[in-house]
Amino acid sequence: MHVLHDVEAFRNACSEARRAGHRVALVPTMGALHEGHLTLAREARRHAAFVACTVFVNPTQFGPNEDFARYPRDLEGDARKLASVGVDLLLAPPVEVMYPSGEQTRVRVGSLAEPLCGAFRPGHFEGVATIVTKLFALTGPCLAVFGRKDYQQLQVIRRLVRDLLLPVEILGVPTVREPDGLAMSSRNLYLQPDERQQALGLIRGLRAADSLFRQGERRAGVLRAAALAPVEEATPWIDYVSVADPDTLSIWADEVSVGERVLVAIAARVGNTRLIDNAVLGEDTLPLP
Ligand code: PAF
Repeated sequence: MHVLHDVEAFRNACSEARRAGHRVALVPTMGALHEGHLTLAREARRHAAFVACTVFVNPTQFGPNEDFARYPRDLEGDARKLASVGVDLLLAPPVEVMYPSGEQTRVRVGSLAEPLCGAFRPGHFEGVATIVTKLFALTGPCLAVFGRKDYQQLQVIRRLVRDLLLPVEILGVPTVREPDGLAMSSRNLYLQPDERQQALGLIRGLRAADSLFRQGERRAGVLRAAALAPVEEATPWIDYVSVADPDTLSIWADEVSVGERVLVAIAARVGNTRLIDNAVLGEDTLPLP
């Protein structure tokens, strides 16, 4: 695997792969890679002969009081892991290249970026949309692979690709979980052992809603209350436990009867760590306890 810091060399390598007749797949990450990321890389490999990955901790998607400075960074370890799953190319660009001096341009996606995490992390999705657009511009026509754990991010990126007519196909990959159900996340590294236990409140909430949904419950308020109870037991710091339309991300009011697919999305803080998880009931399969 080639490791590049130079964006033009990366652009050329992707063009060269396409000229050689290969489909190019892109896996954008912020590093601190875990099995979830490696699953994205393996999926990319299943669909494309040339797999490129990026590691870039994107400053514009972090708020002023968030964890940009302490976000785990381990480029050497990341490179080893990516090489082990057959990634061809890794780009780790410098921040001053991705955001050149005097830069003024942002990509803003509308209503999809407003509810859920958008309401609690002002500017977050603008930062994500901006960096992802830059990475797509560098890679050129490709298949881009993202995890469904960041479900709102995935929907925002799908929308920006359609709206900006980008030659990019998006593949969403199911959330990879620890054996006890905790969704894999680079931020799990922050959790102390007792917090690691508390963090299971999120998957318990999703399971509780899923179980009622499978028994035929369709009242948004009842599904939401079922998801909320185990999260409340685990932590008082809840940003949201929401029941929403999986396509528009509009939050369903409690009295609404949801359809045959419904998004249950959770964000809560355990200690100093903000965790998110979600499931589209009627579509995703959650592991048994
Ligand atoms: O999901 C992530 O790791 C990041 O939000 C992404 C898509 C790499 C953009 O920085």
